[in-house]
Amino acid sequence: MARLEAVVTVSSDSAAPVSASAPVPSPRTDSEALLDGTDASPLFTPLELSGLPLANRFVMAPMTRQASPDGVPGEDVAAYYARRAAHVGLIVTEGTYVDHRSAGSSERVPRLYGEDALAGWRRVVEAVHRAGGRIVPQLWHLGVTREAGTPPYPDAPVFSPSGLRADGTRAGEPATIAEIDAVIASFARAAVAAREAGFDGVELHGAHGYLLDQFSWSRTNRRTDGYGGDPAARARLGAEVVTAIRGEVGPDFPVLYRFSQWKGGFYDARSADTPGELETLLGPLVTAGVSALHVSTRRYWLPAFDGSPRTLAGWAKQLTGLPTIAIGSVGVAQAFGEAKADASSLSLAPLVELFERGEFDLVALGRVLLSDPAWPSKVREGRLTEIQPFRQEDTTRLT
Ligand SMILES: Cc1cc2nc3c(=O)[nH]c(=O)nc-3n(C[C@H](O)[C@H](O)[C@H](O)COP(=O)(O)O)c2cc1C
Repeated sequence: MARLEAVVTVSSDSAAPVSASAPVPSPRTDSEALLDGTDASPLFTPLELSGLPLANRFVMAPMTRQASPDGVPGEDVAAYYARRAAHVGLIVTEGTYVDHRSAGSSERVPRLYGEDALAGWRRVVEAVHRAGGRIVPQLWHLGVTREAGTPPYPDAPVFSPSGLRADGTRAGEPATIAEIDAVIASFARAAVAAREAGFDGVELHGAHGYLLDQFSWSRTNRRTDGYGGDPAARARLGAEVVTAIRGEVGPDFPVLYRFSQWKGGFYDARSADTPGELETLLGPLVTAGVSALHVSTRRYWLPAFDGSPRTLAGWAKQLTGLPTIAIGSVGVAQAFGEAKADASSLSLAPLVELFERGEFDLVALGRVLLSDPAWPSKVREGRLTEIQPFRQEDTTRLT
Protein backbone atom coordinates (compact mmCIF):
# COMPACT_ATOMS: atom_id res chain seq x y z
CA MET A 1 0.00 0.00 0.00
CA ALA A 2 1.25 3.49 -0.76
CA ARG A 3 2.46 5.60 2.11
CA LEU A 4 -0.35 7.58 3.68
CA GLU A 5 -0.12 10.79 5.64
CA ALA A 6 -0.79 8.93 8.87
CA VAL A 7 2.37 6.86 8.55
CA VAL A 8 5.07 8.43 10.63
CA THR A 9 8.76 8.06 9.78
CA VAL A 10 11.46 8.70 12.33
CA SER A 11 14.07 11.13 11.10
CA SER A 12 16.51 13.61 12.50
CA ASP A 13 15.46 17.21 12.30
CA SER A 14 16.99 19.21 9.54
CA ALA A 15 15.84 22.70 10.33
CA ALA A 16 18.28 25.53 10.92
CA PRO A 17 18.92 26.55 14.54
CA VAL A 18 16.84 29.36 15.94
CA SER A 19 18.72 32.61 15.39
CA ALA A 20 19.46 35.05 18.19
CA SER A 21 16.49 37.28 17.50
CA ALA A 22 13.93 34.51 16.95
CA PRO A 23 11.56 33.76 19.82
CA VAL A 24 12.92 30.76 21.74
CA PRO A 25 10.33 28.51 23.41
CA SER A 26 10.85 27.78 27.12
CA PRO A 27 11.92 24.28 28.14
CA ARG A 28 9.08 23.62 30.64
CA THR A 29 6.99 20.55 30.05
CA ASP A 30 3.90 20.59 32.29
CA SER A 31 0.50 21.66 30.95
CA GLU A 32 0.69 24.93 32.91
CA ALA A 33 3.80 25.77 30.86
CA LEU A 34 1.59 26.12 27.80
CA LEU A 35 0.63 29.68 28.63
CA ASP A 36 3.81 30.57 30.51
CA GLY A 37 2.27 33.89 31.54
CA THR A 38 1.34 34.62 27.93
CA ASP A 39 -1.86 36.42 26.98
CA ALA A 40 -3.25 34.19 24.22
CA SER A 41 -6.36 36.34 23.67
CA PRO A 42 -5.08 37.73 20.31
CA LEU A 43 -5.53 34.20 18.92
CA PHE A 44 -9.20 34.28 19.88
CA THR A 45 -10.11 37.26 17.73
CA PRO A 46 -12.34 36.74 14.68
CA LEU A 47 -11.12 36.95 11.09
CA GLU A 48 -12.81 37.20 7.73
CA LEU A 49 -11.09 34.96 5.17
CA SER A 50 -12.22 35.80 1.63
CA GLY A 51 -15.59 36.82 3.02
CA LEU A 52 -15.85 33.76 5.27
CA PRO A 53 -16.24 34.78 8.94
CA LEU A 54 -14.08 32.67 11.28
CA ALA A 55 -14.65 32.78 15.05
CA ASN A 56 -10.98 32.48 16.06
CA ARG A 57 -7.49 31.98 14.63
CA PHE A 58 -7.29 28.21 15.14
CA VAL A 59 -7.65 25.79 12.24
CA MET A 60 -8.01 22.02 12.48
CA ALA A 61 -5.23 20.59 10.30
CA PRO A 62 -6.04 17.98 7.65
CA MET A 63 -5.45 14.50 9.10
CA THR A 64 -6.03 11.24 7.25
CA ARG A 65 -8.19 8.93 9.35
CA GLN A 66 -8.92 6.00 7.02
CA ALA A 67 -12.32 5.69 8.69
CA SER A 68 -14.51 5.91 5.57
CA PRO A 69 -15.20 2.38 4.24
CA ASP A 70 -15.56 2.36 0.43
CA GLY A 71 -14.60 6.04 0.47
CA VAL A 72 -17.85 7.13 2.13
CA PRO A 73 -17.69 9.26 5.31
CA GLY A 74 -20.30 8.03 7.78
CA GLU A 75 -22.06 9.32 10.87
CA ASP A 76 -19.00 8.64 13.05
CA VAL A 77 -16.90 10.88 10.79
CA ALA A 78 -19.59 13.61 10.93
CA ALA A 79 -19.67 13.41 14.73
CA TYR A 80 -15.83 13.48 14.89
CA TYR A 81 -15.68 16.76 12.95
CA ALA A 82 -18.72 18.24 14.74
CA ARG A 83 -17.03 17.67 18.13
CA ARG A 84 -14.27 20.06 17.05
CA ALA A 85 -16.42 22.60 15.17
CA ALA A 86 -17.20 24.98 18.01
CA HIS A 87 -13.59 25.15 19.19
CA VAL A 88 -11.75 26.16 16.01
CA GLY A 89 -12.40 28.88 13.46
CA LEU A 90 -12.03 26.48 10.54
CA ILE A 91 -11.76 22.74 9.93
CA VAL A 92 -9.72 21.37 7.02
CA THR A 93 -10.79 17.78 6.48
CA GLU A 94 -8.47 14.85 5.99
CA GLY A 95 -7.19 14.49 2.43
CA THR A 96 -10.03 13.40 0.10
CA TYR A 97 -9.42 11.83 -3.30
CA VAL A 98 -10.23 13.84 -6.40
CA ASP A 99 -12.13 12.17 -9.23
CA HIS A 100 -9.12 10.67 -11.02
CA ARG A 101 -8.43 6.94 -11.14
CA SER A 102 -4.76 7.34 -10.18
CA ALA A 103 -5.44 9.66 -7.22
CA GLY A 104 -5.57 7.22 -4.33
CA SER A 105 -4.48 3.95 -2.79
CA SER A 106 -6.98 3.15 -0.05
CA GLU A 107 -10.64 2.21 0.11
CA ARG A 108 -10.90 3.78 3.55
CA VAL A 109 -9.86 7.29 2.55
CA PRO A 110 -12.93 9.36 1.62
CA ARG A 111 -13.68 10.33 -1.99
CA LEU A 112 -14.98 13.71 -3.15
CA TYR A 113 -16.96 12.19 -6.00
CA GLY A 114 -19.75 9.66 -6.36
CA GLU A 115 -23.25 10.17 -4.98
CA ASP A 116 -22.68 7.92 -1.93
CA ALA A 117 -19.56 9.78 -0.79
CA LEU A 118 -21.04 13.21 -1.52
CA ALA A 119 -24.18 12.36 0.51
CA GLY A 120 -21.85 11.43 3.37
CA TRP A 121 -20.00 14.73 3.05
CA ARG A 122 -23.28 16.67 3.05
CA ARG A 123 -24.05 15.11 6.44
CA VAL A 124 -20.56 16.05 7.70
CA VAL A 125 -20.98 19.66 6.54
CA GLU A 126 -24.44 19.95 8.08
CA ALA A 127 -23.21 18.61 11.42
CA VAL A 128 -20.29 21.06 11.47
CA HIS A 129 -22.48 24.01 10.48
CA ARG A 130 -25.08 23.07 13.11
CA ALA A 131 -22.31 23.24 15.72
CA GLY A 132 -21.35 26.71 14.47
CA GLY A 133 -18.21 25.70 12.59
CA ARG A 134 -16.73 26.17 9.11
CA ILE A 135 -15.26 23.38 7.03
CA VAL A 136 -13.31 22.91 3.79
CA PRO A 137 -12.18 19.58 2.28
CA GLN A 138 -8.57 18.93 1.38
CA LEU A 139 -8.33 17.82 -2.27
CA TRP A 140 -5.70 15.10 -2.64
CA HIS A 141 -3.90 13.25 -5.43
CA LEU A 142 -1.03 11.00 -4.35
CA GLY A 143 0.88 11.13 -7.63
CA VAL A 144 3.96 8.92 -7.57
CA THR A 145 3.55 7.94 -3.90
CA ARG A 146 0.69 5.70 -5.01
CA GLU A 147 1.82 2.13 -5.66
CA ALA A 148 0.63 0.39 -8.81
CA GLY A 149 -2.10 -2.18 -8.19
CA THR A 150 -3.60 -0.51 -5.12
CA PRO A 151 -7.34 0.16 -4.72
CA PRO A 152 -9.76 1.74 -5.43
CA TYR A 153 -8.59 1.33 -9.09
CA PRO A 154 -5.81 -1.30 -9.10
CA ASP A 155 -5.42 -1.17 -12.91
CA ALA A 156 -4.87 2.62 -13.02
CA PRO A 157 -1.33 3.69 -13.95
CA VAL A 158 0.79 5.66 -11.50
CA PHE A 159 0.55 9.34 -12.48
CA SER A 160 3.53 11.61 -11.88
CA PRO A 161 5.61 14.42 -13.42
CA SER A 162 8.60 12.28 -14.44
CA GLY A 163 7.86 8.69 -13.43
CA LEU A 164 10.36 9.03 -10.57
CA ARG A 165 9.91 8.52 -6.85
CA ALA A 166 11.68 10.81 -4.40
CA ASP A 167 14.38 8.16 -3.89
CA GLY A 168 15.13 8.21 -7.64
CA THR A 169 13.57 4.82 -8.45
CA ARG A 170 11.26 4.52 -11.45
CA ALA A 171 7.51 4.15 -10.90
CA GLY A 172 5.98 4.69 -14.33
CA GLU A 173 6.04 6.99 -17.31
CA PRO A 174 6.05 10.81 -17.20
CA ALA A 175 2.54 12.24 -17.58
CA THR A 176 1.55 13.38 -21.05
CA ILE A 177 -0.02 16.81 -21.57
CA ALA A 178 -3.42 15.19 -22.17
CA GLU A 179 -3.07 13.33 -18.85
CA ILE A 180 -2.10 16.54 -17.07
CA ASP A 181 -5.21 18.23 -18.50
CA ALA A 182 -7.36 15.37 -17.18
CA VAL A 183 -5.92 15.75 -13.68
CA ILE A 184 -6.51 19.51 -13.71
CA ALA A 185 -10.14 18.85 -14.69
CA SER A 186 -10.50 16.32 -11.84
CA PHE A 187 -9.47 18.95 -9.27
CA ALA A 188 -11.97 21.41 -10.76
CA ARG A 189 -14.76 18.78 -10.56
CA ALA A 190 -13.86 18.15 -6.91
CA ALA A 191 -14.13 21.87 -6.10
CA VAL A 192 -17.56 22.04 -7.75
CA ALA A 193 -18.67 18.95 -5.82
CA ALA A 194 -17.39 20.53 -2.60
CA ARG A 195 -19.36 23.70 -3.18
CA GLU A 196 -22.51 21.73 -4.03
CA ALA A 197 -22.10 19.67 -0.85
CA GLY A 198 -22.17 22.92 1.16
CA PHE A 199 -18.47 23.20 2.05
CA ASP A 200 -17.18 26.71 2.84
CA GLY A 201 -14.23 26.48 0.42
CA VAL A 202 -11.53 24.00 -0.56
CA GLU A 203 -7.89 23.38 0.28
CA LEU A 204 -5.49 21.97 -2.32
CA HIS A 205 -2.92 19.50 -0.99
CA GLY A 206 0.23 20.91 -2.52
CA ALA A 207 2.48 19.69 0.31
CA HIS A 208 4.43 16.72 1.75
CA GLY A 209 5.58 15.27 -1.59
CA TYR A 210 2.17 14.43 -3.09
CA LEU A 211 1.22 15.18 -6.69
CA LEU A 212 1.15 18.98 -6.79
CA ASP A 213 4.29 19.10 -4.63
CA GLN A 214 6.02 16.54 -6.91
CA PHE A 215 5.73 19.08 -9.70
CA SER A 216 7.15 21.86 -7.51
CA TRP A 217 10.21 19.82 -6.40
CA SER A 218 13.19 19.48 -8.74
CA ARG A 219 14.01 15.97 -7.46
CA THR A 220 10.70 14.49 -8.67
CA ASN A 221 10.10 16.91 -11.55
CA ARG A 222 12.71 16.43 -14.31
CA ARG A 223 10.45 17.62 -17.12
CA THR A 224 11.88 19.84 -19.81
CA ASP A 225 8.56 21.12 -21.13
CA GLY A 226 6.63 24.07 -19.68
CA TYR A 227 5.75 22.04 -16.54
CA GLY A 228 9.35 21.56 -15.40
CA GLY A 229 12.70 23.32 -15.25
CA ASP A 230 12.90 26.59 -13.33
CA PRO A 231 10.72 27.30 -10.25
CA ALA A 232 8.16 29.20 -12.36
CA ALA A 233 7.65 26.17 -14.62
CA ARG A 234 7.48 23.84 -11.62
CA ALA A 235 4.72 26.04 -10.17
CA ARG A 236 2.65 25.82 -13.34
CA LEU A 237 0.53 22.74 -12.56
CA GLY A 238 -0.58 24.08 -9.16
CA ALA A 239 -1.44 27.43 -10.71
CA GLU A 240 -3.39 25.82 -13.56
CA VAL A 241 -5.37 23.77 -11.06
CA VAL A 242 -6.25 26.97 -9.17
CA THR A 243 -7.18 28.74 -12.42
CA ALA A 244 -9.46 25.84 -13.42
CA ILE A 245 -11.12 25.85 -10.00
CA ARG A 246 -11.60 29.63 -10.08
CA GLY A 247 -13.18 29.27 -13.53
CA GLU A 248 -15.80 26.96 -12.01
CA VAL A 249 -16.46 28.48 -8.58
CA GLY A 250 -15.96 32.18 -9.28
CA PRO A 251 -13.89 34.73 -7.36
CA ASP A 252 -15.52 34.51 -3.92
CA PHE A 253 -15.25 30.83 -2.92
CA PRO A 254 -12.21 30.42 -0.60
CA VAL A 255 -9.42 28.37 -2.22
CA LEU A 256 -6.59 27.56 0.19
CA TYR A 257 -3.28 26.10 -0.97
CA ARG A 258 -1.14 23.97 1.36
CA PHE A 259 2.58 23.74 0.62
CA SER A 260 5.69 22.57 2.46
CA GLN A 261 9.43 22.33 2.08
CA TRP A 262 9.51 18.86 3.72
CA LYS A 263 8.29 15.75 1.93
CA GLY A 264 7.01 12.48 3.44
CA GLY A 265 10.09 10.59 4.65
CA PHE A 266 12.39 13.42 3.44
CA TYR A 267 12.37 16.05 6.12
CA ASP A 268 15.51 17.73 4.74
CA ALA A 269 13.89 18.37 1.35
CA ARG A 270 13.34 21.86 0.01
CA SER A 271 11.38 23.07 -2.98
CA ALA A 272 12.80 26.59 -2.55
CA ASP A 273 16.39 27.25 -1.44
CA THR A 274 16.04 31.03 -1.15
CA PRO A 275 13.28 33.57 -0.54
CA GLY A 276 13.59 34.50 -4.23
CA GLU A 277 12.85 30.92 -5.30
CA LEU A 278 9.93 30.80 -2.89
CA GLU A 279 8.54 33.98 -4.41
CA THR A 280 8.79 32.44 -7.90
CA LEU A 281 7.00 29.26 -6.75
CA LEU A 282 4.19 31.12 -4.97
CA GLY A 283 3.70 34.00 -7.41
CA PRO A 284 1.73 32.00 -10.01
CA LEU A 285 -0.63 30.75 -7.27
CA VAL A 286 -1.37 34.32 -6.25
CA THR A 287 -2.00 35.35 -9.85
CA ALA A 288 -4.30 32.34 -10.31
CA GLY A 289 -6.44 33.47 -7.37
CA VAL A 290 -5.49 31.54 -4.23
CA SER A 291 -7.18 33.00 -1.12
CA ALA A 292 -4.68 31.91 1.54
CA LEU A 293 -1.53 29.83 1.95
CA HIS A 294 -1.36 26.99 4.47
CA VAL A 295 2.34 26.76 5.21
CA SER A 296 3.13 23.30 6.52
CA THR A 297 6.19 23.08 8.76
CA ARG A 298 6.99 20.63 11.53
CA ARG A 299 8.03 23.38 14.00
CA TYR A 300 6.22 26.67 13.47
CA TRP A 301 8.85 28.90 15.11
CA LEU A 302 11.97 27.94 13.15
CA PRO A 303 13.53 30.35 10.65
CA ALA A 304 12.99 29.32 7.03
CA PHE A 305 16.22 30.58 5.46
CA ASP A 306 19.70 31.51 6.68
CA GLY A 307 20.25 35.11 7.65
CA SER A 308 16.78 35.95 8.97
CA PRO A 309 14.61 34.79 11.88
CA ARG A 310 11.51 34.95 9.67
CA THR A 311 9.46 31.73 9.56
CA LEU A 312 8.21 30.09 6.36
CA ALA A 313 4.68 31.37 7.05
CA GLY A 314 6.16 34.83 7.58
CA TRP A 315 8.06 34.70 4.29
CA ALA A 316 4.98 33.44 2.41
CA LYS A 317 2.91 36.30 3.80
CA GLN A 318 5.62 38.88 3.14
CA LEU A 319 6.26 37.72 -0.44
CA THR A 320 2.64 37.26 -1.54
CA GLY A 321 0.56 39.57 0.63
CA LEU A 322 -1.84 36.65 1.17
CA PRO A 323 -3.11 35.53 4.58
CA THR A 324 -1.10 32.58 5.92
CA ILE A 325 -1.82 29.63 8.18
CA ALA A 326 1.16 28.51 10.29
CA ILE A 327 1.47 25.01 11.77
CA GLY A 328 3.89 22.66 13.47
CA SER A 329 4.15 21.26 17.01
CA VAL A 330 1.76 23.66 18.72
CA GLY A 331 1.12 22.17 22.18
CA VAL A 332 2.93 18.90 21.46
CA ALA A 333 6.49 18.04 22.43
CA GLN A 334 7.43 15.89 19.42
CA ALA A 335 7.59 17.21 15.88
CA PHE A 336 5.45 15.30 13.37
CA GLY A 337 7.22 12.08 12.38
CA GLU A 338 9.80 12.27 15.12
CA ALA A 339 10.29 9.92 18.06
CA LYS A 340 12.35 12.32 20.13
CA ALA A 341 10.48 14.75 22.38
CA ASP A 342 11.39 18.42 22.20
CA ALA A 343 9.81 19.86 25.31
CA SER A 344 10.82 23.36 24.28
CA SER A 345 7.86 23.46 21.90
CA LEU A 346 5.23 23.57 24.59
CA SER A 347 5.04 27.26 25.50
CA LEU A 348 2.60 29.30 23.45
CA ALA A 349 4.62 32.48 24.05
CA PRO A 350 6.52 32.26 20.71
CA LEU A 351 3.26 31.56 18.88
CA VAL A 352 1.63 34.71 20.19
CA GLU A 353 4.82 36.71 19.60
CA LEU A 354 5.04 35.61 15.94
CA PHE A 355 1.32 36.26 15.46
CA GLU A 356 1.70 39.78 16.82
CA ARG A 357 4.73 40.31 14.56
CA GLY A 358 2.34 39.61 11.67
CA GLU A 359 3.99 36.38 10.42
CA PHE A 360 0.66 34.53 10.15
CA ASP A 361 -3.09 35.09 10.39
CA LEU A 362 -4.24 31.64 11.47
CA VAL A 363 -2.55 28.66 13.10
CA ALA A 364 -3.44 25.05 12.47
CA LEU A 365 -3.48 22.36 15.13
CA GLY A 366 -2.87 18.75 14.20
CA ARG A 367 -2.22 16.12 16.82
CA VAL A 368 -3.43 18.07 19.88
CA LEU A 369 -6.91 18.12 18.35
CA LEU A 370 -6.93 14.36 17.79
CA SER A 371 -6.67 13.78 21.53
CA ASP A 372 -8.57 16.83 22.78
CA PRO A 373 -11.28 18.32 20.52
CA ALA A 374 -11.75 21.24 22.95
CA TRP A 375 -8.03 22.17 23.17
CA PRO A 376 -8.46 25.81 22.01
CA SER A 377 -11.38 26.50 24.36
CA LYS A 378 -9.48 25.03 27.32
CA VAL A 379 -6.55 27.34 26.51
CA ARG A 380 -8.86 30.34 26.20
CA GLU A 381 -10.52 29.58 29.53
CA GLY A 382 -7.22 28.74 31.30
CA ARG A 383 -8.39 25.16 31.96
CA LEU A 384 -4.90 23.86 31.16
CA THR A 385 -4.86 20.96 33.61
CA GLU A 386 -7.99 19.60 31.88
CA ILE A 387 -6.21 19.28 28.54
CA GLN A 388 -5.91 15.68 27.37
CA PRO A 389 -2.32 15.46 26.04
CA PHE A 390 -1.68 13.95 22.61
CA ARG A 391 -1.53 10.13 22.57
CA GLN A 392 -0.13 8.29 19.58
CA GLU A 393 -3.03 5.80 19.67
CA ASP A 394 -5.43 8.62 18.78
CA THR A 395 -3.90 8.71 15.29
CA THR A 396 -5.57 5.37 14.54
CA ARG A 397 -9.05 5.94 15.98
CA LEU A 398 -11.77 8.58 15.89
CA THR A 399 -11.90 10.12 19.36
C1 LIG B 1 -2.71 11.06 11.70
C2 LIG B 1 -2.24 12.17 10.81
C3 LIG B 1 -2.74 12.26 9.51
C4 LIG B 1 -2.34 13.31 8.66
N1 LIG B 1 -2.91 13.43 7.41
C5 LIG B 1 -2.68 14.55 6.66
C6 LIG B 1 -3.43 14.80 5.47
O1 LIG B 1 -4.34 14.04 5.08
N2 LIG B 1 -3.12 15.91 4.76
C7 LIG B 1 -2.13 16.78 5.15
O2 LIG B 1 -1.87 17.77 4.47
N3 LIG B 1 -1.42 16.58 6.30
C8 LIG B 1 -1.70 15.50 7.07
N4 LIG B 1 -1.06 15.34 8.28
C9 LIG B 1 -0.11 16.37 8.73
C10 LIG B 1 -0.84 17.37 9.66
O3 LIG B 1 -1.80 18.11 8.93
C11 LIG B 1 0.14 18.36 10.31
O4 LIG B 1 0.80 19.07 9.29
C12 LIG B 1 1.16 17.68 11.20
O5 LIG B 1 0.53 16.77 12.08
C13 LIG B 1 1.93 18.70 12.02
O6 LIG B 1 1.05 19.43 12.85
P1 LIG B 1 1.03 19.16 14.47
O7 LIG B 1 2.47 19.30 14.90
O8 LIG B 1 0.13 20.22 15.00
O9 LIG B 1 0.52 17.77 14.66
C14 LIG B 1 -1.41 14.27 9.12
C15 LIG B 1 -0.91 14.17 10.43
C16 LIG B 1 -1.32 13.15 11.28
C17 LIG B 1 -0.80 13.10 12.69
